Amino acid sequence: MILIIYAHPYPQHSHANRYMLEHLNTLDGVEVRSLYQLYPDFNIDIAAEQEALSRADLLVWQHPMQWYSTPPLLKLWIDKVLSHGWAYGHGGTALKGKSLLWAVTTGGSEHHFEIGAHPGFEVLAQPLQATALYCGLEWLEPFVMHDTFISDDETLQAEAHRYKRRLVDWQERQDG
Ligand SMILES: Cc1cc2nc3c(=O)[nH]c(=O)nc-3n(C[C@H](O)[C@H](O)[C@H](O)COP(=O)(O)O)c2cc1C
Repeated sequence: MILIIYAHPYPQHSHANRYMLEHLNTLDGVEVRSLYQLYPDFNIDIAAEQEALSRADLLVWQHPMQWYSTPPLLKLWIDKVLSHGWAYGHGGTALKGKSLLWAVTTGGSEHHFEIGAHPGFEVLAQPLQATALYCGLEWLEPFVMHDTFISDDETLQAEAHRYKRRLVDWQERQDG
């Protein structure tokens, strides 16, 4: 099962992420949990989230990039749900052997991220990658959709298709 933890603060105003999810409607074995719709008060049901995670083989963190990072509710989800004794630490092996895909959309282009002494997108991914590895999750090559500010509908649809293809490829590798 693919579990998509979706963190868009304003899902009704989304274009890029909405197209991405719409493309997955026809795909079996995918569960989407839209955090901002489930928890508008930021009161995360930890047991429900851990239960969903326990059924997943591939975890996806899907969100629009906000200030070079995740929206705050996804950060809170990570803080609360990946708890000691469950996701890490003594007896904390619940996520071991599962995989993690970071699926992020950005308004800026690839060049937008060429800033600072150690530029590049990989640097931004590091806190999430480190979190994944610490919990025994296999870190997959991220899915990144750049340029959402300037992309027309056709381009966004093509990118959404690329996203679906990525998940289908993963499913096929599991089956085969
Ligand atoms: C508060 C806020 C911060 C943002 N920070 C960034 C950023 O650091 N880099 C970037 O490329 N885009 C940034 N964006 C643009 C969003 O990533 C972009 O609008 C989003 O990926 C588009 O996806 P959507 O159509 O699903 O909303 C930011 C947007 C908001 C609202």
